[in-house]
Amino acid sequence: MKNFSKITLGVLIIASASLTSCSNDDDKTPAEKPTIYERLGGSVMVSDPDNSGQMIEKGRLSFRKVVNSTIGLIVADIQSNASGNLQAHFAPLLAETGNTQATNIAKLSDNLTDFFSFNTGGKNAVNTYSGLNMSAAHDPARNPRMGTKASNADYTKFEGYVGAAANANGVASNTELYTDIVAVLESLRTPIVQK
Ligand code: HEM
Repeated sequence: MKNFSKITLGVLIIASASLTSCSNDDDKTPAEKPTIYERLGGSVMVSDPDNSGQMIEKGRLSFRKVVNSTIGLIVADIQSNASGNLQAHFAPLLAETGNTQATNIAKLSDNLTDFFSFNTGGKNAVNTYSGLNMSAAHDPARNPRMGTKASNADYTKFEGYVGAAANANGVASNTELYTDIVAVLESLRTPIVQK
């Protein structure tokens, strides 16, 4: 765990900048409503604050910030040692050491960013998700890096962390954008909860 803390500090960049706020689309019919990805900035290219000299799609950058904030909250949850924490699920990842762990946490961040971007309207190849499907990714028998199956309570907690991470990055709970993101998360509960 000590090792993990160190690596985590090095790897995680908890976002400080705000996401693009949701434009007022109250007057639009559902068919015209921009995708979540578009509302988070879409494919407009901006400088990547974490990789000097590189550009990144604004929508992808928004998701990466939320994902890294979420990973930060999960790490804090695990380190709290509170009962019902998410430690057991992430145990295989925590058992990895040194560069292996750093690489795999970075890879998880990348895969989560791909996953959210791709499934909320990110069209360009940079957002292509090539990881496991949600059922396989969260079944310890098919993904040995998933320590134990997730329960409904685990899922609700995880979803709360994503929501808090979205809040921390400029998506307030009382917005349509937030409600739409939560709806996407809820649509994944069934394949992910396997306990
Ligand atoms: C909003 C709900 C969730 C989404 C969208 C999500 C998404 C993902 C994705 C995209 C991956 C990567 C799969 C791959 O690399 O092939 C993953 C892996 C994983 N997830 Fe989730 N997940 C969610 C909820 C949960 C919950 C509730 C837990 C546990 C309590 C959990 C624990 C894990 C673990 C341990 C891994 C394996 C790490 C790895 O293979 O590197 N996830 N998840």
